[in-house]
Order: sequence, then C-alpha cells, then structure tokens
Amino acid sequence: MTSVNTDKLSSARFAQATDAFVEVFTASVDFDQRMAQQDIQGSIAHATMLGACGIVTEYECDVIVSGLLKISEEIEKGEFVWSVKQEDVHMNIEARLTDIIGVAGKKLHTGRSRNDQVATDIRLYLRAEIEQIAAGINRLQIAILNLAEQNADTIMPGFTHLQVAQPITFGHHLMAWFEMLSRDQDRLQDCTKRINIMPLGAAALAGTSYPIDRNLTANLLGFSGPSANSLDSVSDRDFAIEFTSAASLIMMHLSRFSEELILWSSAQFDFIDMPDAFCTGSSIMPQKKNPDVPELVRGKSGRVTGHLISLLMLMKSQPLAYNKDNQEDKEPLFDTVDTLINCLRAYADMVPHISAKKENMYNSAKRGFATATDLADYLVRKGMAFRDAHEIVGQAVRLGLDTGRDLSELSLVELQRFSVLIVEDVFGCLTLEGSVAARKHIGGTAPDTVRNAISSARQRLLA
Ligand code: ARG
Repeated sequence: MTSVNTDKLSSARFAQATDAFVEVFTASVDFDQRMAQQDIQGSIAHATMLGACGIVTEYECDVIVSGLLKISEEIEKGEFVWSVKQEDVHMNIEARLTDIIGVAGKKLHTGRSRNDQVATDIRLYLRAEIEQIAAGINRLQIAILNLAEQNADTIMPGFTHLQVAQPITFGHHLMAWFEMLSRDQDRLQDCTKRINIMPLGAAALAGTSYPIDRNLTANLLGFSGPSANSLDSVSDRDFAIEFTSAASLIMMHLSRFSEELILWSSAQFDFIDMPDAFCTGSSIMPQKKNPDVPELVRGKSGRVTGHLISLLMLMKSQPLAYNKDNQEDKEPLFDTVDTLINCLRAYADMVPHISAKKENMYNSAKRGFATATDLADYLVRKGMAFRDAHEIVGQAVRLGLDTGRDLSELSLVELQRFSVLIVEDVFGCLTLEGSVAARKHIGGTAPDTVRNAISSARQRLLA
C-alpha cells in the first residue's frame, strides 16, 4: 500500500483512509467536470422541487440555488478549483456549495444519490450536444444541396465494383450523400426521445422515502417525464449506446464520402479539385497535394465505432442496478461527441469549395461503355428479349474494345451487323446525355429529376 489520506467520502464508515493511488484511480473529476453545467442545472431543479414539496424550507432552497449559480459562474470564469479528493464533478460542486452557503449546502443531496444524479447529467449533456450535432449535419446537407444544384447536369460515370457502370449526374451522386445524412438526422432525433427521460428520484436504486414530485423536476428540466423504474434508470446506459451507434453510422457515411473524395482527387480519376485550404503538402515530395481532411475523417470513423464497442462491452454482464463500471461510459461518449462535431464541421466547411472537373468526368464516362445497358434497353423496346439483347450488346462492346471506340463512336452499319432492329435513332440513346435523360422516374438520375429532388430536399430541411 502507498500512502493514505484521511479526507474520505463517508469516512465514518471506514477504519482506514483511502489508498492514495486508489483515490486517483477511482476519481473521474478530470473528465466528468465537462458535465458541470448540467450537474448544476439538475441540482437547481432538484432543490426547487425539494422547496416546493416542503422537504427543505423556501429559504434553504433560495440559498442553495444562489450558491449553485455562483458556482456556475466560477466554473465559467475558470476560477473553480477542482480536486481529485472530491472524486467527481458531483462531489466537487456539492463540497464547494457547502463552503459557500454552509449547512444548507448539506441538504441538497436529500432524496438524491449520485447514481440518479449522474444518469441525469449525462442525459442533459447528450440532449444539448445532439442539438449541436444536428446543426452540423444540417450545415453539411445545405452545402451538399448547393453543390448538387451546380452539378445537376454534370455527367460522370456511375460505378459498381468501382468499374464504370452507367452514366449518372454528379448532382445525383451528391444527393445520395444527402439521403444518407437525412437518415442519420432521423436516427438522432429518434434516440433523443429515449434520452429525454428523467432519472432523478430513483436515488441510489430504490427511490426515496421523501414526498418528492418527480413530474415537477422533470418539467423544470424539460424532460418528457420521469423514468418508470428506479433500478433501470440508474443502471442502463442504453441511451448512450444508441447515440454512439447513430454516431458510428454518421462516421461510416463520412468515411465513405471521404473515400470517394480521396479517389476522385487522385491523378488517376482527376474528377474534382479539392480546396487547397483543406489539403497539405508533403515534407519531401514538392508536387504533392494530399487530401488530409477526408483521410483523417476516414480514420476517425474507426475510433467512434471503437467507442460503440467499448460501451456495449461496458454494459454487458452488469447486474442491476448501478455499478462503478458505469463511470467508464463518459470518456468514449465525450470523444464520440467531439469527433463527430469536428468531422461534421470540417466537412461542412470544405464541401462548398469542392469543384467538379466536368470535362474529365464526362470523358471518363465515355471510356467505359457506360451506355451498354441503354443499347440493350433500345433493342428490348424494339421487341427483343432482354437476355438476347444483353448478349448482342456484349458483342458490340467487344468490337468497341478491339477498335478502341465507345459504342456511340461505332457506325450505324457496324451496329446493324449485330441486329437488324438497329436504325438511325439508336444514337439518341447511346449518348451520355440521352442515357441520363431517360432515367426520369422518381429517384432517377435525369437532370430535371435531380433538380426536383434537390428542391423537395430543401423543403424537407425547412420542415
Ligand atoms: N462518478 C460516478 C460515475 O461516473 C458517479 C456515480 C457514483 N456513484 C457511486 N455510487 N459510486 O458513475
């Protein structure tokens, strides 16, 4: 055993002071002080309820509230002195309150435990951060919509297996990103419903013998209501896991965008110009312009998914109700929030400055026989069965490959060698413009359809 100290929480119960290393080892104040303002917000509501229910006097309630407001200011100004001896954010604030207001400060914890207190703090914290994250997603969505609008007519190759598949418009491709983010936004809003439930009143695990009014506290804090089971509400962190799961999906999406931006800005694709302000050079190769921001975001997606796994592993096998294990929920959660906010910010700042190299996109779509399906569809419209058409177009592609030409560059006579159904009007569907314009159903890539998709997406954002 290393040295001991004598300043222990509930020290009367203990014959020995806490081991000095254990004191530091078990403390969480270094990281949970991030929830200080939520802790104070929760305490003010709790004290107000205690006053309203006559559990403390009105005077005591007033003194407690003004003491807490003073502490809030001290923290804002960076004047508050955090102490590991007080273990966590809750004990630090409570100890300071008693310093300032004396004996009334010792009454704040009536009918409450750190177990329902910490669960409340995390919920208040997450609720506020989700608003920031939602605003970040919104900014990025608007940036994507604007870029899509500029590129509703820009033709590029669409890929499957990263091989040229069919021509699409760049606007349509961007709108796929928009849709992913819309679902991400929905998931966040949905998990907020389960976050916004109030644990206070559950106390340590079994509730409290004081005549508390949980509805009042819940109203004061803007929760949709008090939790239905005291054991459950001090123990489960499923709401944090759910949030981190939604965050992992957002990061997975950002990672996919990143991968495309990285590919497209390479010399091999050369589809886009990335803004210089979001790239860096190499310390050795003077010609380099590296897409650092997307690469870093792609990398950071791994750590957020890691946090999701951490939280799942933390929670599994815990018996009811609260266990100290749960103190480990905060660092993964906080880092998830920070990572997400920063990545969304970097993306929302960067996307407006990405420019499409339209000619390169167009030429690339021309090189990969992207209209082969259109030729098959043409033959089907003239009465041929699709499988036969598929076979015949394969032969035409072979000729193109052998002679280094796209389908639209083959002559009518050459094409007619494959089928008598082919006549002059075939060229209307072999061009890239004809191919995209034909896909004008809901969800299709035709420029007009994309413009409609963009305007209805703008409506959805405003709704
Ligand atoms: N610091 C603790 C946590 O983060 C607060 C709750 C402590 N409760 C307890 N019974 N030790 O979970």
